[in-house]
Amino acid sequence: MSVAQQVFLRDAMRRLNLTRDVFATRIGVKRRALDTWLLPEGSQEFRAMPEVVNRFVTEIVENEALLQKYAQSAQSGPLRDRIAAEGKHQLISVDQFTRESVEEFCRVADQMQPIARRQKVSRVLEGAVLGNLFFEASTRTRVSFGAAFCRLGGSVCDTTGFTFSSMAKGESIYDTSRVMSGYVDAMVIRHPDEGSVAEFARATNIPVVNGGDGPGEHPSQALLDLYTILNEFSRLGKLLDGAHIALAGDLKYGRTVHSLMKLLSLYRGLKFTLISPVGLEMPEYILQQVGKHGHVIEQTHSLEEGVVGADVVYATRVQKERFAAEELEGINLDFQVNKAIIDRCGKPDVIVMHPLPRDSREGANDLSTDLNHDPRLAIFRQTDNGIPVRMAIFAVLLGVEELVQHSLRDVTWSPPSHIGPDDSVFHGMD
Ligand code: ASP
Ligand code: CP
Repeated sequence: MSVAQQVFLRDAMRRLNLTRDVFATRIGVKRRALDTWLLPEGSQEFRAMPEVVNRFVTEIVENEALLQKYAQSAQSGPLRDRIAAEGKHQLISVDQFTRESVEEFCRVADQMQPIARRQKVSRVLEGAVLGNLFFEASTRTRVSFGAAFCRLGGSVCDTTGFTFSSMAKGESIYDTSRVMSGYVDAMVIRHPDEGSVAEFARATNIPVVNGGDGPGEHPSQALLDLYTILNEFSRLGKLLDGAHIALAGDLKYGRTVHSLMKLLSLYRGLKFTLISPVGLEMPEYILQQVGKHGHVIEQTHSLEEGVVGADVVYATRVQKERFAAEELEGINLDFQVNKAIIDRCGKPDVIVMHPLPRDSREGANDLSTDLNHDPRLAIFRQTDNGIPVRMAIFAVLLGVEELVQHSLRDVTWSPPSHIGPDDSVFHGMD
């Protein structure tokens, strides 16, 4: 089956830590043939992989797995137990992951792709209810977590803002969390205070997912960002080990870059270039944590200098909602990633990412719209990846990841082959 074929090949490359070129050579096929086997089923150039290749790759991966088994004897049991937070099946911080567990997580996300791409449906979470509690503005995180739960067969109840929750009447986090636990089977929470989601999590035994806690963390965003980088690198024939990652913008209050830098640091030999306006540098505690892994970390206030040589340029928005008005006055906000800078200073195969939302109003300063038709801009491939990644989070935390594969049925409707007018093939270029 074609989707299983893509999942199988991606998984094999990731397990063997090989680029597409090296993998093609390792299994003795032309790179072009491998590319056609990795294309989505809807693509005209898609080809089915010969059975003999399947058997050969399986053999190589199994041999590798045997070798790794002895090296990683500590890794055992279900993934949700290995990433548990204080013994609970909750996702509060990227610190819960190791490189092995995050790669295993990416394999679960790959298995969700047929559902995310609207080729298959599953009802493994039928009867389960998700509580989405968002006390800060959100489009992507709230809707994609809800859609991910629904696509696994569950249903969603939500509340948005303080005004429409009884927190407006002074109810505590403890009481709110305990009450909600009686109504729903999992909760996703976004709240303006750092550490607040961990407080919700302590008041319940049901799975809690951090949808963003003030300037603290945004772990599901970091997981989908990592998943996007791995997929983009696979297409470009690059490995994440040894890559050069530039993070630009408000690194002080941007929770996405806090989580992403820590998660990426699980890989080997990275170079981070941290580009920020004066006063919005990456917090010291993150530099120290990442520094322990031996990565190179450079800091600059010049966007033009910082993007030179980077494999990924990850732009972010100034988190104006976290500043007192007078604090913003001294900050240089003229800090926009745009086509001119990427053409002049970026590598030809750089990937430009952004967690979104970007401010698209006149005079805005994070990511220009003039890269919209440029294949180096990965922002919508990034948002699309939010669905399989968030489905994987629920599947893992609720312990149903092994059941999904056996629960798949064909969709009954006809989705468009390209979801965005600029998509070259469905879900990007892979
Ligand atoms: N949406 C992301 C967040 O909530 C990034 C942003 O808002 O700038 O952290
Ligand atoms: N990336 C992100 O968290 O987007 P929202 O704020 O729209 O949820």
